[in-house]
Amino acid sequence: MRIDTHADLLAGLADAAEAVIPVGAAGVHQLRQPTPADAPGFVLACNDATAARWTELPAPYDHSHAMDFIERMAPRGLVDGSMVAFTATDETDDVLAVVSLHRLTSDGTADVGFWTAPWARRRGVATAALHALARWAFEHLGLRRLTWRALVGNIASLHTATGAGFVPAGTQRAGLRHREAYVNCWHACLVAADPQPVDDVRPRCAVEIAAGAWQLQPIVAAEDALVAEAALPVSACLPAGLWAVRDAVTGHADAVTALLVADDRGWVLSVETGAQSDPSAAPAGSAAVTRYARRALGLQLP
Ligand SMILES: CC(C)(COP(=O)(O)OP(=O)(O)OC[C@H]1O[C@@H](n2cnc3c(N)ncnc32)[C@H](O)[C@@H]1OP(=O)(O)O)[C@@H](O)C(=O)NCCC(=O)NCCS
Repeated sequence: MRIDTHADLLAGLADAAEAVIPVGAAGVHQLRQPTPADAPGFVLACNDATAARWTELPAPYDHSHAMDFIERMAPRGLVDGSMVAFTATDETDDVLAVVSLHRLTSDGTADVGFWTAPWARRRGVATAALHALARWAFEHLGLRRLTWRALVGNIASLHTATGAGFVPAGTQRAGLRHREAYVNCWHACLVAADPQPVDDVRPRCAVEIAAGAWQLQPIVAAEDALVAEAALPVSACLPAGLWAVRDAVTGHADAVTALLVADDRGWVLSVETGAQSDPSAAPAGSAAVTRYARRALGLQLP
C-alpha cells in the first residue's frame, strides 16, 4: 500500500478506528483507540511535571481535557487526516501510554508524539509502543517517513526515539512550538526501509570511565544535557554518548565529551565547560572515550 493522494490517506485512517495493534513487549499488551474509560488514567498520567515540561499537554490537565481529546480531537483526526492516536494498554486494559501520529501528509510523512504514565516509565513501554506504531504506520497506512521532534534536553524522549530505530538528524532552530514560543528542537527520522530497530551503541555508552585524575560520568539529566548542548557545537547535539569529565577528587566537572556515531564510525569531541576549567580535562576526556569506543564498542575512529 502506498499513499499518493489525501483520499488514500483518509481511506487508511478510516480503518484505524477499528485497528488494534498487538505489541507483547515491555508489558504493553496492545495499542487501541482511546475510549472514555481511559479518561481517569489520562488525568492521573498527564498531571505530571515531566509531561508539562516537555509537551504541549494542558497543565493542569483535568477530566474535560481528557474527554476533549478522546471524544473530539482523536475521532476528528481520523476523519480529516490530522492525527491518529492510540492508547497503549496492559493485559488488564489499563492505560500505560499514548502514542500518536500528527501532521500526516499525502506525501506519506507524519510526526510522532508520545507520553508514558509516570507509573509505567523506564521499563521500555514508550520504545515498544513507538516501534509498534511505526511498523503499523508503514505497513498499514502506507507512510514512508516518520519524524520525531523533541525539545532540546529531552533525553528520555531521544533514547525512546533512537531505541525505536529513529536516526538522529541534529538540532532545528526554532523548530518546535512550545507554550506560545518557537524553540530549538532535536529531530530524528525513520523511513520505511530502515532496519528495525538499528543496532545502536547508545545503551553501551551509559558507563563510567576512569581516566587517571579524571572520572567520566555519563550525562543523563536534562539540565546537564543543556549545559553540554551550550558548550558543544550544534552538529554534536545528538551524540551516541555524552560524558561529564570530572576531577576524580573534587568531583568538579571541567569538560564534556561527546561520542558521535554513524554506522560503524565514530568521532569524539571534547570541550571545556568554563573559563576556570583545568585545560587538561578536555584532552583527557577525548583520550578516554576514544579508547573506550575503539576497544569496547569496536568503532573506527579517525
Ligand atoms: C519520554 C517518555 C515517553 C519515555 O517513556 P518510557 O516508557 O519511560 O521510555 P522507555 O522505558 O521506553 O525508555 C526509553 C529510553 O529512555 C531512557 N530514559 C527513560 N527515562 C529517562 C530519564 N528520565 N532520564 C534518562 N533516560 C531515560 C531509558 O533508559 C531508555 O533508554 P535505553 O533504551 O538507552 O536504555 C517519558 O519519560 C515521558 O512520558 N516523558 C514526558 C512526556 C515526553 O517527554 N514525551 C515526549 C515528547 S517529544
